Amino acid sequence: MTIRHPRRLPLLALGMMALLTGLWAGLARLGWDVPLPRPGFSSLHGPLMVSGFLGTLISLERAVALGQSWAYAAPLLTGLGALVLIGGGPLLVAQLLLLGGSAGLVAIFAAIIRRHPALYTFTMGGGAIVWALGNLLWMHGWPVFLVVFWWAAFLVVTIAGERLELARLQQVTAGAQAAFLLFIGTLLTGLLLLGWWFDGAVRVFGAGLTALALWLGVNDIARRTVRQTGLTRFIAVCLLSGYGWLGVSGLAAMLYGGVPAGPQYDAMLHAFFLGFVFAMIFAHAPIIFPAVLGARMTYRPLFYAHVLLLQATLLVRLAGDVAGWGAGRQIGGLLNAVTLILFLVNTVTALGSLPDRPGATARSPS
Ligand code: HEM
Repeated sequence: MTIRHPRRLPLLALGMMALLTGLWAGLARLGWDVPLPRPGFSSLHGPLMVSGFLGTLISLERAVALGQSWAYAAPLLTGLGALVLIGGGPLLVAQLLLLGGSAGLVAIFAAIIRRHPALYTFTMGGGAIVWALGNLLWMHGWPVFLVVFWWAAFLVVTIAGERLELARLQQVTAGAQAAFLLFIGTLLTGLLLLGWWFDGAVRVFGAGLTALALWLGVNDIARRTVRQTGLTRFIAVCLLSGYGWLGVSGLAAMLYGGVPAGPQYDAMLHAFFLGFVFAMIFAHAPIIFPAVLGARMTYRPLFYAHVLLLQATLLVRLAGDVAGWGAGRQIGGLLNAVTLILFLVNTVTALGSLPDRPGATARSPS
């Protein structure tokens, strides 16, 4: 396999390490009897998954897009923050590193906005600010069950911005743009209420998620590209499934309101993080991994295996959550983790392969 940018590999490796250890901690949290390096390790699951893995991946992708060496400080800081969390170093040091990395992403977007002032760049920049503020609140002692909504807002706002960019949604009408801003505003209102009125804030936040899911489902070009073939259809299928799960998580948040732990919390969070966020990662992986590594990637219909398995295993987990069926929740959660490993295997084995036929190399479709 030829990789044109091997120096980016260590940064990617830090993110992957956060993903794998975060998954391990998640299994422990779910009640699986897995060996842990120390007591309390399972509480690192959320921070490792969101700020350690996703934060590093998103910052790395944006540093590559900006093309300036200082920007790589952002993924480096978040990756080091994850390392300190895993290694059992002082929590405050890890939190400072993660905060520094998120501030770095804000700086990256400031530079990108200067080059391309557009609705999509402002949206993604706003997402980075929300992440940094969430990390700041976490450092100030806010519990993860509150901070998690700031982290979720970072992801949904960033992804919505990416869709605006990648799917050329800039061509949406002025009315649709106004609706988009209104729904983002609803999410932010939920966030601002969190410190005073947990229950109501989560319901408002859920309304924002549901509205955004509908908006994306209606306006995203994926509704049309799903009728095409190959990679283009694959991406569209992932996106549409993700918008479905985004709607489910929004409805769950509206229904359950503020719950700090347990099956309802599990259902609303993982419909979001697994059903929505990972569907977006599955969709964008064939474009982003080659861009970051400078390697070739061949689209294979086999990619549908991890997409379908995610749907099936998440359904089992959520059925377990909703019906009070502990075994379903536990087995579904374990299989969720297996699905993510399958995704990594499918992705790595597709990297560097020569295209099966002309035009099969994953490059541009939205
Ligand atoms: C794939 C396997 C996964 C398993 C087994 C798992 C397991 C869990 C469990 C058991 C909880 C606690 C729920 C409760 O209070 O009952 C939890 C919370 C959480 N999970 Fe996951 N999860 C997984 C995937 C993910 C992913 C992919 C993400 C993010 C990308 C994520 C982010 C979170 C966050 C942020 C929390 C809240 C943490 C907290 O309150 O401390 N999880 N997860």
